[in-house]
Amino acid sequence: MSAPIAIPPLPGSSSLKQVSDDELGNFAELIYRRTGIHVSPQKKMLLSNRLRRRLRETGIEDFSAYYQHLKRLKDTDPEWDAFLQEITTHETYLFRDESQWNWFRTEYLAGRAAESASSEGKRTLRIWSAACSTGDEPYTAACCIAAALQNSAQWNIRILGTDIGVGALAQAEAGIFGERAMRLVPEEYRRRFFVKAQNAQLWQARPMLTAMLRFRQHNLMSPLREKPFDIVFLKNVLIYFDGASKRTVVNNVRAMIRPGGLLVAGAAEGITEMVKDMKRLQPWLYRK
Ligand SMILES: C[S@@+](CC[C@H](N)C(=O)[O-])C[C@H]1O[C@@H](n2cnc3c(N)ncnc32)[C@H](O)[C@@H]1O
Repeated sequence: MSAPIAIPPLPGSSSLKQVSDDELGNFAELIYRRTGIHVSPQKKMLLSNRLRRRLRETGIEDFSAYYQHLKRLKDTDPEWDAFLQEITTHETYLFRDESQWNWFRTEYLAGRAAESASSEGKRTLRIWSAACSTGDEPYTAACCIAAALQNSAQWNIRILGTDIGVGALAQAEAGIFGERAMRLVPEEYRRRFFVKAQNAQLWQARPMLTAMLRFRQHNLMSPLREKPFDIVFLKNVLIYFDGASKRTVVNNVRAMIRPGGLLVAGAAEGITEMVKDMKRLQPWLYRK
């Protein structure tokens, strides 16, 4: 029997190895400083899997070499974007947390519609979906608005979606969603606000939605330079942050809510103590 042939490893084929404790600590520190996200030691396997994809893409041999490479790069280098896109969790779908969207449609927008019916002149509605991932949240807001504000010519509507992940934002700009993301979208809304791509289980948002939306990259750890908003959605993102970085984000976000405006938070965001100066209307809804 002939001896087995030794096949040299491919670049990045430390593939099945996991990051060591030291490497985990180094990456965790880098990620925390850049995003506010806390990577716990229990996330070793997840982090290793996600980093391996960057090793494959860049052809860099191992985790430590990739760490050194990142540290040498300027903050604006595209590899940083690719790294951040890879290590963050982008799970989202339209009409996630249905009870919040029921409130938005039947109470908030119905109230704003009634108010505009009894007054002259153009009305403004400004919404920020902070950490919007692939845009499912701001597109949901746009669907609800298109359905509720029939006389939309009387409204100046702006929905801003921001995220740190450039790949996620590119998908948001495209406005194309698969069946999984669309699963909670009411049948009537699918028909009115989306076009189904032929031969594919994909839905393209119609211009009546995209006209309200714009997207840009933004790190929640920095202040946003915009006019204040009527409502900010800040959902399913602070669950990955520790107390100190949560506080920074909450302060940055609070500054962007107009007096009397609203913050819609995720149910598990754990920010109640940090927004004591706002009126708590629901466990997830605060008025400034
Ligand atoms: C799980 S998704 C939540 C999407 C949406 N808000 C929802 O509830 O369905 C979390 C998003 O937070 C983004 N993110 C994480 N850290 C961030 C930061 N420091 N600044 C901005 N976005 C961040 C990630 O890129 C990811 O797309």
